[in-house]
Amino acid sequence: MKSDWFSPSRSTALIRPSVPSGNRAIVFSALIRGRPAVPDLLVGVKTIAINVEKGGAGKTMIACHLAWVLADAGHRVLFLDLDRQCNATDALADFESLGTCKPLFEPNYVPPTSLPRLSIYSNRMGGEYDADYPRALTNINANFPALDSHFDFCVIDTPPSWSWINYAALLVCNHLIVPVELGPFGPAATKQVSDSIATVNQRRKTPIHVVGLVPNRVRANDTHQMKMLAAIKEKIGRNLFTNFLPERAHYSQAMQEHVPVWREKAAVADADRVQLLDPELLYPDPENVRSAIDEATIDEMAETIKERGQLQPITVRAQG
Ligand SMILES: Nc1ncnc2c1ncn2[C@@H]1O[C@H](COP(=O)(O)OP(=O)(O)O)[C@@H](O)[C@H]1O
Ligand SMILES: [Mg+2]
Repeated sequence: MKSDWFSPSRSTALIRPSVPSGNRAIVFSALIRGRPAVPDLLVGVKTIAINVEKGGAGKTMIACHLAWVLADAGHRVLFLDLDRQCNATDALADFESLGTCKPLFEPNYVPPTSLPRLSIYSNRMGGEYDADYPRALTNINANFPALDSHFDFCVIDTPPSWSWINYAALLVCNHLIVPVELGPFGPAATKQVSDSIATVNQRRKTPIHVVGLVPNRVRANDTHQMKMLAAIKEKIGRNLFTNFLPERAHYSQAMQEHVPVWREKAAVADADRVQLLDPELLYPDPENVRSAIDEATIDEMAETIKERGQLQPITVRAQG
């Protein structure tokens, strides 16, 4: 099997370890056990985006579980469902709907006077910002700090196909989790994310902190997958979570039932695995703060998106 995952010159450098040592497979629940619900150290809302340009990789499943873990730990969590399919919105029944995410893309966003501890903004956009998305990007970037005093964490689920909406997620996030499928298109999709990170990083003062790649839907008895996993490990080492998420029916069953997988007794063993997250998620990184991005650079970014020729979202209308 070919193991030309990342072109080492560029992408490997981007997906570099930010935690000098330690095991990336520390179980999240163990980390938060015994800690105050809202650690004093937190400065502003810590924003975690889940992104890879591939449908079915597990973005929504991982994003929802991350939100559930954080909510269970007593944090104030905002979920930003930027996928038009709104699968996460359906699953997160415990989160109170703030309606469409449109106000975040408008100038001078003012948060509602009282925000529920668990809130969700959904992508109910009908393409109204597509024609002038540079402005929408400028607005969300300027608006995001208004959420700082209301939430401890913001989890962003992203659409599977590339559009300016993915840029918005990469622009405002502090941390990025990349689910990876060990199938024929997994490597290419991850390489695309890496290139997107590079593009967006040029427009950010501080680079996106890539928490790591999470292999998902892994079948331990599939030799092809195991070879691919070994190849990735060799290439990006510590930036791969050391555990992986197995392919298990109860992940999709739990999502369909709108509950975390650990609510299903049969899935207890897997529950631990789905909670694998990096300790850095819990501790603020003062070096990794959002910074002002001026409109000129947003326009440049818009040019980059145009060059990629992936501007037109596909919309489906009912006939008749
Ligand atoms: N590890 C897994 N085992 C079994 N089913 C999974 C697993 N991860 C995700 N799924 C299911 O696969 C489908 C696609 O996952 P999803 O999270 O929606 O992907 P994405 O958001 O990247 O398109 C969903 O039905 C989801 O419940
Ligand atoms: Mg999804």
